[in-house]
This record gives sequence, structure tokens and C-alpha cells, in this order.
Amino acid sequence: MSVHKEVKKVTTHTLQKMKSAGEKIAMLTAYDYSFARIFDESGVDVLLVGDSASNVMAGHDTTVPITLEQMIYHAQCVVRGVNRSLVVVDLPFGSYQSNSDIALASAIRIMKETGGHSIKLEGGEEVAESIRRIVNAGIPVMGHLGLTPQSIYKFGTYSVRAKEEEEAEKLKKDALLLQEAGCFALVLEKIPASLAKEVSASLTIPTIGIGAGNDCDGQVLVMHDMLGINNDFNPRFLRKYLNLHEQIVQAVGNYVQDVRSRDFPNEQEQY
Ligand code: KIV
Repeated sequence: MSVHKEVKKVTTHTLQKMKSAGEKIAMLTAYDYSFARIFDESGVDVLLVGDSASNVMAGHDTTVPITLEQMIYHAQCVVRGVNRSLVVVDLPFGSYQSNSDIALASAIRIMKETGGHSIKLEGGEEVAESIRRIVNAGIPVMGHLGLTPQSIYKFGTYSVRAKEEEEAEKLKKDALLLQEAGCFALVLEKIPASLAKEVSASLTIPTIGIGAGNDCDGQVLVMHDMLGINNDFNPRFLRKYLNLHEQIVQAVGNYVQDVRSRDFPNEQEQY
């Protein structure tokens, strides 16, 4: 008899069932093998290989510069560390906006070359046709509305979106459109909690909020933010579960001191 315990993998259907049962979905970004392994083991339902890699891994000011090849590299690393979580991979800026042929080709590359389970892209009505074609090709798609960082140069700021009636109405229409186009879930970024609540109640697919209040069907955070690796990013919506920046500075400082003082390595730490 096999002692190997089968892990129940998270699928898009699992997320749908979680919404129906009123169970919250926990999503977190990951960009490499080692953290993906830890997060998968910690019970995170969805790992997002976010294009925020452009910021937190590559040091760019925006998500605009990251390329499809770079996203594929990060996704390949994450997938190797995952056993249970559903892996969603962001289509980066420039890999889907031109037309639906290009969008479909980019989504197919992600699926073939990374082993990821689904893709995410930003926008409403303007990307609905691309979403339909990607979903028709058998690729699950997560939508993303509200603050859409790939359009930073259009909006000019990372402030809260859809506070005004007109933008809120468009967001509500877009959310329904993305659901009709076949999205299995929707990220709502930095919008008023009351609007996120209304949108979440109006949809049958789950919503995943970031800075969108407690009534979304799940939550997502960028790993570097919630682990306190960035000590200079402190938006109101962020809860920091660790202060890794401080702890790492302390640990590495101790190591430097031990090397300089010839304390490391000692007799037990050599051959
Ligand atoms: O790229 C990313 O990390 C994201 C999340 C903020 C939702 O899209």
C-alpha cells in the first residue's frame, strides 16, 4: 500500500466552490522557486507570478518594462516549487494590448513554456475580446480592474480608483463583461470597499481584493510588502506580517562582524 498522501490541488473550480461556500481565498505573489515552495506549504490557495516582479525583483519604478520572456522565467521557477496552489501568471504590458491574436499567442507561450495554470491581464471592455479568445483556447483567465498599474502613465498616480460615480459605473459594467467573457476570477485593486462589496455580490465568479476591503471573496498581497522586505512602502491597505528588512539587516550585519572579527567559522564549522 502506498504511504504517499495525495495533495488536493487548487483549481479554478475549487475557487468557484469556495465562493459558493463563503470560504475566503488567500492569494500571494511569488517570483521564485524557494518562496513558492514555502508559500505552497503554508496553504496559500493561489500564487500570482505578478508583473510586480518588475518592481520588487528588477527594481524598476513601474511594471511597464518587464518582458514576456522575463515573466516566463519567473513563472517557470515558481511552478517548480508548487504542489498544491493554483499558479496565475501575469501577461506583461505589451504582450496583449495590440490585438487578440497577440494576446492569445502570449497566453499560449505562458502555458506551454511555464507549466502555469492560468493567466491574468489588466483592463475591462478593451480586453474582453482577447479574454474570450484565450478562454476559448482552454486557458483560464483572471481579470484585473480598478488600479491597473500597467496604465500608470495614463492615470498618472497610484491613488484609489473609481471614487467618482462615472468611473464606478464603468467598473461595475466591466466586471460583468469580464465574467461574461469567461474570466474565472477578478482582482479588484485599490477601490472603495463599498464598491468592491457591490461588485463581489453582483458576480458569480470570485473577486480577489488588494486595497478593496473585506467583502471581496479573497485577498492578495505582494510578498515583499507583507513580509516587510520593502520598508519604504506603507500604504493604508497593507498589513505587514514580518519586518524582514530589519531582521535581515541585523542578521547580515552580525555575519559581517563575525567574518571581520575572525569569529566565523569556528572549529566546528570547518573540516
Ligand atoms: O503584479 C501584481 O503583483 C498584481 C497584484 C498587485 C494583484 O497584479
